[in-house]
Amino acid sequence: MLERIEEIRVEGSAAIEAAAGTAELEELRVRYLGRKAELTAILRGIAELPAEERGKVGGSANKVRKELEALLESRAEILDASELESQLAEDRVDVTLPGAPARPVGHIHLITRTTRQIEDVMVGLGYRVMEGPEVEHDYYNFTALNHPPGHPARMLQDTFYVQSDPEVLLRTHTSPVQIRSMEAQSPPIFMIAPGKVYRRDSDATHSPMFHQVEGLAIGEGITLADLQGTLDEMLRAIFGAGRKARMRPHFFPFTEPSVEFDVSCFQCEGTGTLVDGARCNLCKGIGWIEVGGAGMVDPNVLGFVESNGYDPERVQGFAFGMGVERIAMLRHGVPDLRRFFDNDVRVLEQFA
Ligand code: PHE
Repeated sequence: MLERIEEIRVEGSAAIEAAAGTAELEELRVRYLGRKAELTAILRGIAELPAEERGKVGGSANKVRKELEALLESRAEILDASELESQLAEDRVDVTLPGAPARPVGHIHLITRTTRQIEDVMVGLGYRVMEGPEVEHDYYNFTALNHPPGHPARMLQDTFYVQSDPEVLLRTHTSPVQIRSMEAQSPPIFMIAPGKVYRRDSDATHSPMFHQVEGLAIGEGITLADLQGTLDEMLRAIFGAGRKARMRPHFFPFTEPSVEFDVSCFQCEGTGTLVDGARCNLCKGIGWIEVGGAGMVDPNVLGFVESNGYDPERVQGFAFGMGVERIAMLRHGVPDLRRFFDNDVRVLEQFA
């Protein structure tokens, strides 16, 4: 019996030392120390042995049991550690990999989209896109645009002034970018300037902040006919192939002559009457829809940038300006301009 116990010790400890993984170790634990293990049976059978053998057999079986238990434990520790290490090495996350591709959320606002569409048309005609500040100096917003100080035309636009300085204001139109662009670039110049403008005004068709696109073309021999052709081309691109532009006399301090320009109504094809004989509600039966202001740049304006090469005796040209919201409302049948800025996604989603 004692020999057998020694065999179990030798065999068991060799097997435990050689175990390659925790699963195998668990099998060995069951085989050598489990309920059905030989050593367990020996311990259980001690009571039946002759009295003189019990002490020796029990002592040695218990010693072997403890030895194997201790071996199992230390081997388990070693195997656990190395398995954890190899798992960490295998499962390593490469933190330098790019994340999941960004999912498109939302879309460009209709006003931005309309602005960009106008930019595209004009860039196609050879115009450069330029920008100017929204907080502007009185000089650019008014004085250099031929509004002498104290001139009543300054009152036509309900201006927001910056309280600390009566000379600083929120630009009431994008026209100051005409002056800034001419200061930055000598003629010929073909530029458009999209951007936000501000006026003290608020109802269904006016917002204290809105968007305009300015256009300016100055060179030798540019005439009102060129303005007509440019507006025709631009309005066709925005409102559809069959459209025409019409100019009506108007007044702006910085253009002479000045006009307002209209687009032929795209709902009634310019007839003022719908197919069922009813008066067209979009153009109010007129056949034309007002889009913006324009004119030949006043020589007085060029006088403010004469030192930049704009000699009014040598160069001339036209300017135009129009409201982006108005164009978007017309094209998409939006009845109230304020809906663009309420940020109600149910409204904005319709223009994805
Ligand atoms: N700046 C004018 C406005 O806001 C529009 C305009 C631009 C008129 C250029 C003529 C030339 O009403």
